Amino acid sequence: MEHDVAVVIGIGGMGQAIARRIGAGRQLLIADVNEAGLRSVAGQLEAEGYAVAVAVVDVSSRESVAALAKQAGSLGAVRSVVHTAGLSPVQASVAAVLAVDLLGVAMVLDEFAEVVAPGGAGVVISSMAGHFTAPPAPDVARQLATTPAAELLSLPAARADQFPDGGQAYGFAKRANQLRVQAASTAWGARGARINSISPGVIATPMGAAELAGDNGVVMRMMIDASNAKRLGTPADIAAATEFLLSPAAGFISGIDLLVDGGAVAAIQTGALG
Ligand SMILES: NC(=O)c1ccc[n+]([C@@H]2O[C@H](COP(=O)([O-])OP(=O)(O)OC[C@H]3O[C@@H](n4cnc5c(N)ncnc54)[C@H](O)[C@@H]3O)[C@@H](O)[C@H]2O)c1
Repeated sequence: MEHDVAVVIGIGGMGQAIARRIGAGRQLLIADVNEAGLRSVAGQLEAEGYAVAVAVVDVSSRESVAALAKQAGSLGAVRSVVHTAGLSPVQASVAAVLAVDLLGVAMVLDEFAEVVAPGGAGVVISSMAGHFTAPPAPDVARQLATTPAAELLSLPAARADQFPDGGQAYGFAKRANQLRVQAASTAWGARGARINSISPGVIATPMGAAELAGDNGVVMRMMIDASNAKRLGTPADIAAATEFLLSPAAGFISGIDLLVDGGAVAAIQTGALG
C-alpha cells in the first residue's frame, strides 16, 4: 500500500509540535534550512517512534522548493502539507522577510499544488500581524493573490524599499499569505485537495521569544494582557488547529484564514488597549 505522507516545512517551535500531532503512523517528511537543527529534531522524532525523512530546503529558492515537492511525491501519497518556515522582523532584514515569508509561501503553494494527493490538505502558517495590516486596495490585493511567484517581489507594493522596517514588511507578507491561500484554493481544489492558513497570535517558540525580547515586546505583552486568553499561545494550540484543518471534519473549509490568537485581535480591534 502507498505510504500516507505528511510534510512539515520549517521545524522550529510550531513545526515540531505539528509533526508530533499529525505524524503518527504516517511517513513524515520534515524540511528546514537549518540542517543541524533538522537532523536533531529528526533524531528526537525517530526515537519517539515516528517514521521520518528529512530535506534541507531554502523556501526562498524555487529549485529547492521544487526538489522538496518532488521528494515528497516520491515517498507516497502527499496527504498533508504544513508550511511553518518563516523569519520574524527581529531575525532578518526587510529583503529576507519578503523573500522567505512572501515569496517562499507563494512557491510552496505552487509546487505542492502539483503533488498533493486527492483528499489531501495543506495549511500555511500566516500571522495575526496580517490582521493588523490594513487590507490592500482591491487591485493590489488581486495582484498579490495572482501574480506569478517569480514576479511577486517586483510588484510596486512588494518592493523592499516600500517598507520602513521589518515589522511592516512582515505584516504585509502575512496579509499577502492569506490572499495567496485564497487564490490557491481553486488550484488545489482541481486536485481534490484543500488549502487554508492559520494566523497565530504570540506563541511560545524561539521566534515568539525573540519578538518578546525585541523593541515591540512591551506592546506585545500589553496586547496579551488585554486579550481573552491573557497568556501566550503554545505550539500545541497551533498544532490542534492545524490538525482540525487537515482533517475530514474540515472537509468543507478551503481558502480561509483561521485566527488562533487567544482573542488578541478581537480585543485590539474593539479598543481594549485604548
Ligand atoms: N512564534 C510566534 O509568536 C508567531 C506568531 C505568529 C506567526 N508566526 C509564524 O509561525 C511560523 C512558525 O514560527 P515558529 O514560531 O515556529 O518559529 P521558529 O523560529 O521556531 O521556526 C521557524 C523555522 O523556519 C525555519 N526557516 C527560516 N527560514 C527558512 C528558509 N528560508 N527555508 C526553510 N526554513 C526556514 C527556521 O530555521 C526555523 O526552524 C512562521 O511563519 C512565523 O512567522 C509565529
